[in-house]
Amino acid sequence: MDSPIVITTPRLRLSHITGVKSGSVDLSDLHRVWGNEIATKWNIHGSCKTLSETEERMSTILKKAQDYFVVYRRVAVHPVESTEGEDAAPSTSNPTWEAIGMINLVLTEKPDLDPLPMPASKTKQDSKAVGEPAKPPVVQTRSMGYMYLPEAWGQGYGMEAAAVVLAHFRQAASRTESPILVYVEAAVDPSNIGSLRIIEKLGFERVGLKFISDEEVFLAGAWRKNEYPIYGLYL
Ligand SMILES: CC(C)(COP(=O)(O)OP(=O)(O)OC[C@H]1O[C@@H](n2cnc3c(N)ncnc32)[C@H](O)[C@@H]1OP(=O)(O)O)[C@@H](O)C(=O)NCCC(=O)NCCS
Repeated sequence: MDSPIVITTPRLRLSHITGVKSGSVDLSDLHRVWGNEIATKWNIHGSCKTLSETEERMSTILKKAQDYFVVYRRVAVHPVESTEGEDAAPSTSNPTWEAIGMINLVLTEKPDLDPLPMPASKTKQDSKAVGEPAKPPVVQTRSMGYMYLPEAWGQGYGMEAAAVVLAHFRQAASRTESPILVYVEAAVDPSNIGSLRIIEKLGFERVGLKFISDEEVFLAGAWRKNEYPIYGLYL
């Protein structure tokens, strides 16, 4: 069996999740995030009130989200004062990682909107076989989503996690036998300044507006038009 993918940066650990079991640490880590009303404010279904609600939500998500990562940040380990006598070694029972969010790159059959034109530099990729002509790459479409606990906002984690995940998929695509070009879409509300800043810094470009329906939706504390701008990026 393949070992689970773990992506690391000096401050973060991103653990690939393929399933959640009742009573598991993974489930309680996910519930820490999914149970938070502010972190989930842009999710149409809102937060999960109980562990079993998170378990149910995750099992639905994981049926289609093949690439789902829980994001952990490194936390300082403070020695805990021992009460077992002066000579006893201090114990370090505090965890070294804490769950602060999630990021996923869901493989989709086709983009939400017609994709951006392929950049000239990517239209042909060299074949790995000697003597074979360069051929156009197969495009794989993914949709990116992320959310973090409010206590972790504004410290660069959102940007750091997105950059390292995209780099991971770029490298994975470059290692395949036939050329694959990954096209990533992200839907971001114009009032979500932090998220807009992340995708802008990553090099995403606006593709257009995806209309869902005439009925307004309640999201992030307000009734909003049921349509969202889509941004795209070739990795
Ligand atoms: C949006 C979100 C992911 C940002 O994550 P974050 O870890 O706080 O972002 P970072 O600290 O990496 O910041 C990235 C950039 O955005 C800016 N930024 C972040 N939050 C901001 C805010 N509320 N207002 C203005 N700028 C903001 C940062 O200053 C930084 O820009 P800089 O590098 O030019 O200084 C986070 O607020 C969140 O999880 N929100 C709730 C869920 C959500 O909105 N998900 C995305 C749905 S599309």
